[in-house]
Amino acid sequence: MKVLVTGGLGFIGSHTVVALQNDGFEVVIIDNLSNSSEDVLDGIAKITGEKPLFENIDLRDKSSVISFFKRHPDIEGVIHFAAYKAVGESVTNPLAYYENNIGTLVYLLQELQDKKRTNFIFSSSCTVYGQADEMPITENAPVKPAESPYGNTKQVGEEIIKDTCKVKEGLNAISLRYFNPMGAHPSAEIGELPIGVPQNLVPFITQTGVGLRESLSVFGHDYPTEDGTCIRDYIHVMDLAKAHVMALKRLLSGENNKNYEVYNLGTGKGSSVLEVIQSYERVSGKKLDYKMVDRRLGDVITAYASTNKANKVLGWQAETTLDQAMKSAWDWECKIRNYQEVHV
Ligand code: UD1
Repeated sequence: MKVLVTGGLGFIGSHTVVALQNDGFEVVIIDNLSNSSEDVLDGIAKITGEKPLFENIDLRDKSSVISFFKRHPDIEGVIHFAAYKAVGESVTNPLAYYENNIGTLVYLLQELQDKKRTNFIFSSSCTVYGQADEMPITENAPVKPAESPYGNTKQVGEEIIKDTCKVKEGLNAISLRYFNPMGAHPSAEIGELPIGVPQNLVPFITQTGVGLRESLSVFGHDYPTEDGTCIRDYIHVMDLAKAHVMALKRLLSGENNKNYEVYNLGTGKGSSVLEVIQSYERVSGKKLDYKMVDRRLGDVITAYASTNKANKVLGWQAETTLDQAMKSAWDWECKIRNYQEVHV
């Protein structure tokens, strides 16, 4: 069964390609290499024994999208990761975000709407909840006004899919709202490769560990949490990848109750920034250089998922512990930087 994965050379995309191939799916990747590299194909091949098909297409080019689907009429499912994801950049360049994250989604759906039956998985985010009033966050928690154009593209993206599903019976879609993805494939053949200074916590920690960054700034230590730092739900990228396969299978087998569904993907457990640092120190055997600084604008205090719906309906559950996830992130960082671990 042939599946299109857009953004399939990126962080979550590449791990999902591995999970799909391990499950027997034939994968075609579309990626424009704007935040990824073709070398990722070799990493995927080393893990699965098979190089997926790859087309270097920019989804903003509508004619390329049209001709792609003409060449691949047998695609039965689409997992759409391709998007920009830097919150700060989206504030300074909103139109680039709306063009890339919304325009391309519309082009894809336009090509899919003429098919008799088609299945679509959308890469969404817990950012749609903002600071939720209750923990853990269920899928019924209200969607709060977006804090950034990036966040808005996820909200609007979900709305576009929902509206399209209302009028197109053959279109079946699931939005997956990720909490905080982290880690790498345990083989360390693929992982996260942020360009420039990482904005996210875990790559910043591991880059500090190998000496690429001087020290981590912990954004805020006076939050109303037990240790004063923010709480998030860190989920291993392979657990996340497997959830995509299960969601896709649900649609392919027609088990979905409605033609548009939403699921949270998290572990259900919240960890503070200091707990994440401690996890790093445990798995690396090294102390991390860090300092407490002011709060970062736009950060919510606490966010962790209720995983009930994904557990019950998709039959999915995160299996990797924070330490195992951190170990995979650290192994990957050491490998790509050619860093020899020295235990102190
Ligand atoms: C961020 C985005 C979110 C997006 C997700 C993608 C914001 C406000 N939110 O989530 O919309 O879906 O990335 O992965 O940017 N931290 C530090 N020092 C650092 C970096 C982070 O203390 O150098 C702290 C943050 O304050 C936060 C936690 O670590 O408490 C996690 O931060 P991060 O990895 O950036 O993820 P989110 O902000 O939760």
